[in-house]
Amino acid sequence: MSDFVQDIWYFAGLSSDIKTGDLIRVVIAGEPITLGRKRDGIVFALRDICPHRAAPLSAGRIIDDAVECPYHGWKFGVSDGACTDIPALTEAQAMDTTRIKVRHFPTVENGALIWVYLSSDKRFSGTPPIDPPRFDFANRKALMSDALTLNCHVDHAVIGLMDPAHGPYVHRQWWWRSAKSMHAKSKAFEPRERGFAMAPHSPSSNSFAYKLLGGTPVTEITFRLPGIRTENIKVGDKTLLSFTAVTPIDATRTHIRQVFFTDILTIRLLKPILKMGARKFLRQDADMVDLQQMGLKFDPNLMLIEDADTQAKWYQALKKEWAASKADGRDFVNPVKAKTLHWKS
Ligand code: FES
Ligand SMILES: [Fe+2]
Repeated sequence: MSDFVQDIWYFAGLSSDIKTGDLIRVVIAGEPITLGRKRDGIVFALRDICPHRAAPLSAGRIIDDAVECPYHGWKFGVSDGACTDIPALTEAQAMDTTRIKVRHFPTVENGALIWVYLSSDKRFSGTPPIDPPRFDFANRKALMSDALTLNCHVDHAVIGLMDPAHGPYVHRQWWWRSAKSMHAKSKAFEPRERGFAMAPHSPSSNSFAYKLLGGTPVTEITFRLPGIRTENIKVGDKTLLSFTAVTPIDATRTHIRQVFFTDILTIRLLKPILKMGARKFLRQDADMVDLQQMGLKFDPNLMLIEDADTQAKWYQALKKEWAASKADGRDFVNPVKAKTLHWKS
């Protein structure tokens, strides 16, 4: 598991994924996690394996501030994972149950987005040294969201996500763009917190979908570790925020979640069409991942060429520097330098 980014906040789900009193199961970077929401609305995360005999706590229930295992009813406090009750013990068998612990993960709900902190130290407790990402525009109900499991390691999914050259091929369709509409592009990039951004610009005029917005949209695209991409489109004082999280499940599967937030009326009205289009894009990427696996299973050497693949190189450099800074116990130094990249797509 060491080749997943650690000591960082992972996107765990949308607020609407977890109703009050519910427990759900997610697997992030090889860790099965149960996410729950207490009666008071607070969201928490515990390892989804009971330390007694491995039953998933997500199949149990929440009782006040504890999760009750479905198998023998052991209870674990949601704020620290300590066992608070072993019902099978008699009065004469007094023992300090709190010495038994299930792993507890710091959890934050920022607007509609839920973040879980994965420490490299499994016994970590307390406040993480960094804050989870915060996107002010995500403080509202999502317009829509979509999810898929990609059959690849997270690195291939992230690199595919930021790859500007596959659009005219993988996403070729009459209403979007074609190989014929390819032209030279120059985009200015700059370092950002734990990542980088394509500086605000007006999207290419060959993107018919953007024209539907009305007015000149200005787009800013950001990427940050571990695999969070945002595309923020502003038209006047209105916004469309497209949020994408690419999260490793295990070494061969990756979860991709795409969420749209907007106060642009046209977009809200076009929701069914937008949803179909977004779905199609995701499927096209997933199909290409499956094709790519046909080659990857022979463990070939791969290439990263010129500016079209520079963002992929930055991702690798960011990941390496993140791990190195943690190993050395020093501050992270962003390896990305401001640069204008040129490519055709
Ligand atoms: S397996 Fe959870 S209480 Fe026994
Ligand atoms: Fe794509």
